[in-house]
Amino acid sequence: MPHAPISDAALDQIFRQARTQNAWLDTPVSETLLRAIYELVALGPTTANSNPTRIVFVTTEEGRKRLAPHLSEGNRAKTMKAPATAIIGYDLKFYDKLPQLFPHNPGAREWFSGSEELAEKTAFRNSSLEGAYFIIAARALGLDTGPMSGFNNAGVDQEFFAGTSIKSNFICAIGHGDPAAVFPRSPRLSFEEACRIV
Ligand SMILES: Cc1cc2nc3c(=O)[nH]c(=O)nc-3n(C[C@H](O)[C@H](O)[C@H](O)COP(=O)(O)O)c2cc1C
Repeated sequence: MPHAPISDAALDQIFRQARTQNAWLDTPVSETLLRAIYELVALGPTTANSNPTRIVFVTTEEGRKRLAPHLSEGNRAKTMKAPATAIIGYDLKFYDKLPQLFPHNPGAREWFSGSEELAEKTAFRNSSLEGAYFIIAARALGLDTGPMSGFNNAGVDQEFFAGTSIKSNFICAIGHGDPAAVFPRSPRLSFEEACRIV
């Protein structure tokens, strides 16, 4: 049966009225909600069902202190006030899990294991997609987000992913945003500027 479009209220919540946040209310985010976000993220499509994304949720003072030195000046203070910040990373060796994730094609691991370049490209592309699903999932569950790439990736990798094949992509603060700190909405490209139908 064809699906009906989701409601206008849902579209407002996820897109039209959702804004990138710069300050956070003092409302905690439960582990149950963090798990609920990931359960949705994991269902989004990825190449060969590879799920290359690995996430560290920073929710404690100790975790925030480890993150702080690697953040750009403009991102530091606000990230320290966020109830949770997800470090969205990708596993360069994601292909080792393909026998589990793509069992109907036993050769899938070898599509990637022989080429570092293809593995890197695939992991980064799909973790960026899963990062986008993350933002949409968090908003759908009633949370606000603040995605950020202004940080030292090598520093974060050393601090949180040392000894692994995981690299950071971007970080995303989550919680309940303070509407007073939201910037005016910037313009977007129109359909005519960004798209062609051929
Ligand atoms: C991958 C990514 C990286 C971003 N990096 C930063 C950042 O380092 N610092 C920051 O303040 N905002 C950052 N932003 C926020 C964007 O500037 C913001 O989402 C955009 O201007 C749209 O704002 P709006 O969602 O309120 O319309 C980033 C957003 C994304 C998706």
